[in-house]
Order: sequence, then C-alpha cells, then structure tokens
Amino acid sequence: MNTGRACRKAWHHGEVRVRTITSIAAVAGAAAIGYASVIERNWFALREETVPVLQPDAEPLRVLHISDMHLTPGRHRLMAFVRSLAALDPDLVINTGDSIASPDSIGPLLDCLGPLLDKPGAFVYGSNDLFSPKPKNPARYLWRTSAGEHEQYEPDLPWEKLGGELTAAGWLDLNNHRGRLTAGGLDIALAGVHDPHADRDRYDAIAGPADPAADLRLGVLHSPEPAVMDLFAADGYDLLLAGHTHGGQLRVPGYGALTTNCGIDRARVSGLSMHPEVSPSGGHTAWLYVSAGLGTSPWAPARFACRPEATLLTLVPRWA
Ligand SMILES: [Fe+2]
Repeated sequence: MNTGRACRKAWHHGEVRVRTITSIAAVAGAAAIGYASVIERNWFALREETVPVLQPDAEPLRVLHISDMHLTPGRHRLMAFVRSLAALDPDLVINTGDSIASPDSIGPLLDCLGPLLDKPGAFVYGSNDLFSPKPKNPARYLWRTSAGEHEQYEPDLPWEKLGGELTAAGWLDLNNHRGRLTAGGLDIALAGVHDPHADRDRYDAIAGPADPAADLRLGVLHSPEPAVMDLFAADGYDLLLAGHTHGGQLRVPGYGALTTNCGIDRARVSGLSMHPEVSPSGGHTAWLYVSAGLGTSPWAPARFACRPEATLLTLVPRWA
C-alpha cells in the first residue's frame, strides 16, 4: 500500500470515529434533556424525615412541608400530586414560597391544596411569587446567584391576592411576622421573614427570643441564607424550614448539586441538617430542613438526579 492511500484511510477512519462519538453524544444529550424535562420533572416524591425536636413527653407532630411549586395552570401532574397529599392528614402545613409562576395560578393553587387549607398552616413568599418568570441562561447559576435580579422592576404577579387567599383560609402570613397556632395539641410559636433572596427580609420586625413556654418554636423563610438563619437560631427557634434551592435542580450523580443559588453550602442544598452546623459556645443550634421543592421555573423545565418533592416531617421528642 502506498503511503498516501494509507494516510487517507487512517484519516477516514478517524473522521468516522469522531462522527460516531458526536452522534452518540448528541443522542445521549437529547435523551438526558428529554428525561430531565418530561420524566423526572414529573416524578414526584414524598420524602419523610423524623426530627427529634419536641419536649420529652410530647406526642409526634406531623408537618407537611411544601415549597417552590412555581405553578402554571397547565401543570396537571403537579397539581394531582399536591392534591394527593391531603390523604396524609398532616397536623400542620408549611409553604416556603415560590408558589406561583403566572397571574392565573391562584385558582389552580387553591384548588389543588384543597383540604390542606383546612389544616393549621403558615406561609412565606419567595421572590417568584412577586415577579413573572423571565427567560434567563440557567448556566449563569454556576458563577453567580440570582440575588438582586429583581431590583430593576416592580412586582407583576398577584402576590397580595395569593397571601389574602391563604390568610382567608386560616393560614398564618409569616412574611416578617410572628404568629401562634395550635396543631396536634401543641402550642407552636412561629416567625418568618419575607424572601432574603429578594432583600425583603426584615428580621428586626420579628427579632427577640422565641417564647420558651411554647411547645415548639418554628422559623420559616424561603431562601436559606446563613446570616438570617443565624438570627433565628440565636433567638431560640428549634426548627427552621426553607426552600428556594430546588436541591440544585440539576445534580451530577456522585457529586451532587453544582450550585445552591444562595449562601448555604452545597452539602446542605436540601434535606435535614443543623444550623449553625457547629454550635457557637453556649449558643443554640436549630434543626434545618431545606426542601428540594416541587417545581421549576417555566423557563428551566428540567430536573436531573433531583426529584421534585414534598416532605412529611414527623417531629418527635428530643433524644436523651
Ligand atoms: Fe423556586
């Protein structure tokens, strides 16, 4: 074989190999996007956790934690899942915000919450309850958070109507407010802030020691910003509930979330942990649950290795 023909043959084989690899990568990429946007985004999970946070002789308290629905009226599978949660018959429901993504979502939201609205409940807003979703490059979360992105425009979603409807149903509005309710026979002192991610938190409005006479002290916020959670913990709150992170939304198997889109570390992007992680000398440490949430922005409709979730937290007496 002459040298020229051998070179052309080797070059041809190399080109075929590159084309084959490119084709396989394109098919795998399309399959991953299809899986993430069609299957996993609608593969809802009920996560269950036990939190030893009550006084020694207390009966267990079952708390349903929902977050980040980003509801649009066409998300029928999401609404069906939320509707199914009423069968859990929880003692208390906490919604940590980003409930709507359209001005037409309040009716569908109330409809799918259904009997859950008859339970004792409380809520805070997330920034996405105020501002319509906008198309953005989702990869930007790798080098920055979305904090401050809403400073340029006024709220355009009906957040007041949303809050008014939930309050009319009997849920506590904890946006820079304290509250008190009885659930499962327990006297619960609550406090919450509006979304720190949108710079609407005003901890001064709720600051001060949580009532030590209550059976449980519960802090609620949308974005789990460590500096704000430090304040809740220092005031003696036993359990903090937050959302916002979507658990990272697109996780790398074996590595986890690429970003939290806020100040909390990747290891605590979702699930149960403590805050602060290391107890300050003589200071109080709170339990923290960060929900991976139920939805996504309509402009980033995909989840990978990070199923959408609601959580049933069973609060039990502290371990000795
Ligand atoms: Fe969200």
